[in-house]
Amino acid sequence: MSQSSQVDPAKLAAARAAVALVEDGMKLGLGTGSTASIMVRELAGRVAREGLKLRFAATSQATADLAESLGLRVETLDEIGWLDMTIDGADEVDPHLHLIKGGGGAHLREKVVAAASERMVVIADPAKVVETLGAFPLPVEVLSFGFETTRRLIRKLLDTLELGERDVLQRLKGSDPWVTDEGNLILDLHLEVIPDPAALARGLSCIPGVVEHGLFLGMCDLAIIGREDGSVVELARDADIDADMLAHEGE
Ligand code: A5P
Repeated sequence: MSQSSQVDPAKLAAARAAVALVEDGMKLGLGTGSTASIMVRELAGRVAREGLKLRFAATSQATADLAESLGLRVETLDEIGWLDMTIDGADEVDPHLHLIKGGGGAHLREKVVAAASERMVVIADPAKVVETLGAFPLPVEVLSFGFETTRRLIRKLLDTLELGERDVLQRLKGSDPWVTDEGNLILDLHLEVIPDPAALARGLSCIPGVVEHGLFLGMCDLAIIGREDGSVVELARDADIDADMLAHEGE
């Protein structure tokens, strides 16, 4: 099942390298987003060609639908239990392999699935590699109950972290609120930089109306960064990342 020439070559390279890590019998978490979709198609191709026996849990309804449409039977996470590996995209990857996720609004299920995985492999193009997280607005999934109160508490937290005066915007789909697979709403925190991701993550987790934030700290084991020429760079946690080099190659 080869993908058309319109597919981003860097994303395709990363997706193929991750799919090459899949072994017969594995239980896999399938990520969400454009890069993860490419990966799901590549995976379906390998399954069809090689007759691999795999089990799948999806991180979103969209990914479950895509996988099923390609003949991959998706089970619930609870049916499978512990997963061998999750392959997912990211919005930002820093040198410690800390991530921002949730650009597609799926970070809650993505985090639950990643936390149930022996290994989390992130696939991305070079533009996602950054020195410091925060240029990408941080998604925070919140309950609709007390939505404005939760927003106020988030603003207060940002003040205490000297991140005040930043936009905390409700995500919309057209003119309607964006509603997640779990029926919640999303606030996007336009922070520009996050000097202390751990402090922000801790603070957000302490706000009762916050269901989950898009900071994935210490969860990613391997990041595979695809390049335009079809090669990849594999980044292990705490390796020295030349973010500049990677970012410019992707342009
Ligand atoms: C989905 O909610 C996100 O976490 C995605 O994994 C992330 O936005 C990456 O998506 P792309 O591969 O489309 O950039």
